[in-house]
Amino acid sequence: MSNYSSLREAADNHGFRIGAALNARSLRSDPSYWKTAKNEFNAITPENALKMGPLRPSRKIYDFTDADAIIDFGRAHGMYTRGHTLVWHNQKPDWFQAWDYTDEQLEAFLRDHIHTVTGRYRDKIDAWDVVNEAIADDGTLRETVWADAMGENYLDKSFRWADEITDADLYYNDYGADAVNKKSDAIYDLLSDLLERDVPIDGVGLQCHALGDHPDPDSVAKNIRRFRELGLDVQITEMDVAFPLDDRPENPLEEQAMYYQAITEACLEAGCGALVQWGVNDANSWLRSFKDFPERFTGDPLLFDDNCDSKPAYHTVKETLADS
Ligand code: XIL
Repeated sequence: MSNYSSLREAADNHGFRIGAALNARSLRSDPSYWKTAKNEFNAITPENALKMGPLRPSRKIYDFTDADAIIDFGRAHGMYTRGHTLVWHNQKPDWFQAWDYTDEQLEAFLRDHIHTVTGRYRDKIDAWDVVNEAIADDGTLRETVWADAMGENYLDKSFRWADEITDADLYYNDYGADAVNKKSDAIYDLLSDLLERDVPIDGVGLQCHALGDHPDPDSVAKNIRRFRELGLDVQITEMDVAFPLDDRPENPLEEQAMYYQAITEACLEAGCGALVQWGVNDANSWLRSFKDFPERFTGDPLLFDDNCDSKPAYHTVKETLADS
């Protein structure tokens, strides 16, 4: 057993970033959430507050209230901050549907969005997920409003616009690409091409939503290594570990702890610098509310339970960091 009193202390002492996605409502209203976030983690990601929909109640207006609250919290407690996300096909503003834009208008809109948001947080955000989920599950470029208006080039442009304003590390982030597979192969090719064209990209975020399917940790390590060899930093950006409700193991908490341990070991061995879990405690997990997820998966995917008490997985991650 290690002598570390918190996960944060173990991570700090071993040069690793252990993070959690935060929402402003719980930070404001729930003291144990607040305390757990600040004591146990040295990194944060706003879960929704920096997405275009929440930030842009109308075309001309930005509402930074929740994003500011989360980012100020992180700074007050000396935490590494990931900005999530500038360009994504989901969680666009509602008014977007009714906007009859030209391609040129959309491009100008995205440039302004990226400039404004990265500018506001220029000294406050350490890494940005510039583009999120641009590759479809079959490995082709996803059809999105951005690709439709700007062509494939929208990735190059987005990274360059961010780089014009901020010194933060610039990431490409995606799901289902944690292990070596068809999708991560496609992302590997995409990012190799970006690097070849001198597009300013620093890293790749592997979301690691291990829901029904738990990517093989050895293959995750291999995947991390190949991106590192391209010269990119790698982070696990949105981890949670759940089980299908109709195929639940006998000891889900132990299985979960073993899986978190295996991924932490893969990170440390292969040179991934951060592991962010997608929430602080189970009660706040998106698995409790997103689409049909509550009917499909166990709803306790994180290191802390509903009351912010530590779970077996918390201890395996802490011990793994302590032993590193
Ligand atoms: C999720 C949030 O957790 C939910 O609250 C929201 O309703 C939908 O988005 N990939 C991502 C994250 O990059 O932004 C998503 O977050 C989860 C999947």
